[in-house]
Amino acid sequence: MLKMSIIYHSETGNTKKMAELIKEGALEVTGVEVSLMAQDQLDRAFLDESQVILFGSPTYYGTMSWQMKKCMDTLPVKVEGKLGAPFASAAWPGGGGYELTEMALIQGMLIRGMIVYTGGVVTGRPPTHFGAVSHKAPEGFDADRCRKLGKNLALKGQELFGKSKGQSTDLV
Ligand SMILES: Cc1cc2nc3c(=O)[nH]c(=O)nc-3n(C[C@H](O)[C@H](O)[C@H](O)COP(=O)(O)O)c2cc1C
Repeated sequence: MLKMSIIYHSETGNTKKMAELIKEGALEVTGVEVSLMAQDQLDRAFLDESQVILFGSPTYYGTMSWQMKKCMDTLPVKVEGKLGAPFASAAWPGGGGYELTEMALIQGMLIRGMIVYTGGVVTGRPPTHFGAVSHKAPEGFDADRCRKLGKNLALKGQELFGKSKGQSTDLV
């Protein structure tokens, strides 16, 4: 079973809704278990066992929120070698800075030795570029992009880590 943690910070629900849609997309792939975690309520054991970890943040003054930065700076588990991707919401598309938020999250992932992947523009529609972005609450295309990101990460996770990690294969 591939385990995926989706960590988010959300004050008014937009980024949380993105996390829920990403989970929906990931669960389109069989053999995947997903846990949603608010940034201040991490499930340490599940996080430790997760092969895939996504980080989501609202855009605060053109970058990730301080709450998400604190979460990343104080992660209670090692994440090196795990697969990851970012997602971000903002109030102002086309200049509000959600891609900068994603790049800040990507920096945090790379520095901790994670493997960053989104599927980009080569895995079909909608394209996921730097991750999933949403203008306020995700709807329509933004919602589809969240689901697609979840599915892309689940498929790539299985490709990299196998479908049966965590299950005993001693008897087969
Ligand atoms: C302190 C603060 C700073 C913000 N800065 C930006 C910003 O730079 N660009 C932008 O587009 N939206 C900005 N916003 C709006 C939020 O990114 C947006 O409403 C987001 O969807 C909130 O996510 P949430 O519902 O998950 O809390 C800011 C909001 C707050 C509270």
